Amino acid sequence: MEPSRESGRGARPEVWVNCAASFDGRLAYADGARARLSSPEDLVRVQTLRRDSDAILVGVGTVVKDDPSLRVHWELLGEPVGRNPTRVVVDGSGRTPESARVLDTTASTIVATSRRSTRRFPAHVRVVVCGERRVEIPELFRRLHDLGVQRMLVEGGAEILSSVLRSGLFDRFTVYTAPVGIGGATAPPILAGPETHGPDETVDLRLVGIERLGEGLVATYTPRRDPPARTALPR
Ligand SMILES: NC(=O)c1ccc[n+]([C@@H]2O[C@H](COP(=O)([O-])OP(=O)(O)OC[C@H]3O[C@@H](n4cnc5c(N)ncnc54)[C@H](OP(=O)(O)O)[C@@H]3O)[C@@H](O)[C@H]2O)c1
Repeated sequence: MEPSRESGRGARPEVWVNCAASFDGRLAYADGARARLSSPEDLVRVQTLRRDSDAILVGVGTVVKDDPSLRVHWELLGEPVGRNPTRVVVDGSGRTPESARVLDTTASTIVATSRRSTRRFPAHVRVVVCGERRVEIPELFRRLHDLGVQRMLVEGGAEILSSVLRSGLFDRFTVYTAPVGIGGATAPPILAGPETHGPDETVDLRLVGIERLGEGLVATYTPRRDPPARTALPR
């Protein structure tokens, strides 16, 4: 296991953010209906990321829309069944459905919530309170590190990707881009969250790798602390 990173605000896990998007940058179909955008090759890549993580984090919006199991699909890796990472759900208001797969007993689960939630969860679910109305990402990452999470995969959805990428508290961000367009007004983009009004509010990344994977491509980015040079066209 690699050593955890020291962020500007203290220890946190090593964080790998990953998603699959259409070529127009959408994570799902209209109104957030689940889209299976990963190619077979990308599915295997994601399983290796899951296998190598201590925890997999998603937002409650993803749990409501997709009901993911967040387990490692060992059969896709051709490996014997091993340990499943801890599932982490960011759920500030306590709206994870009672029947959600992430609440089953096949793996450990942490629900990160806020003080406004009065929701009770089953005894096998660990609840951590990080924030007044929303889950504060820096505090959550510190708490997860304290709980022994050294490497974590963040899988989405659009609001979580926005919060984590805007926080800068990640080490690597990979996007699989499928050769498919979705369009429309309600399909979630890679980044939801606050509006961007100008270059001072963009999420700036450094491209460190690009790879063709089946019919799609995987771009790998790291956080960028210095803003990129933007070339203005002569008027
Ligand atoms: N293609 C992919 O790789 C991929 C992967 C995952 C998901 N998805 C898609 O993404 C969509 C779901 O995305 P989403 O944006 O609706 O939901 P989300 O990002 O999964 O969850 C967002 C929710 O988490 C809660 N939250 C609490 N604190 C937060 C914080 N600090 N930052 C962000 N969220 C916080 C909020 O709900 P409360 O206010 O109730 O706490 C918020 O509405 C679905 O359509 C799903 O299919 C796609």
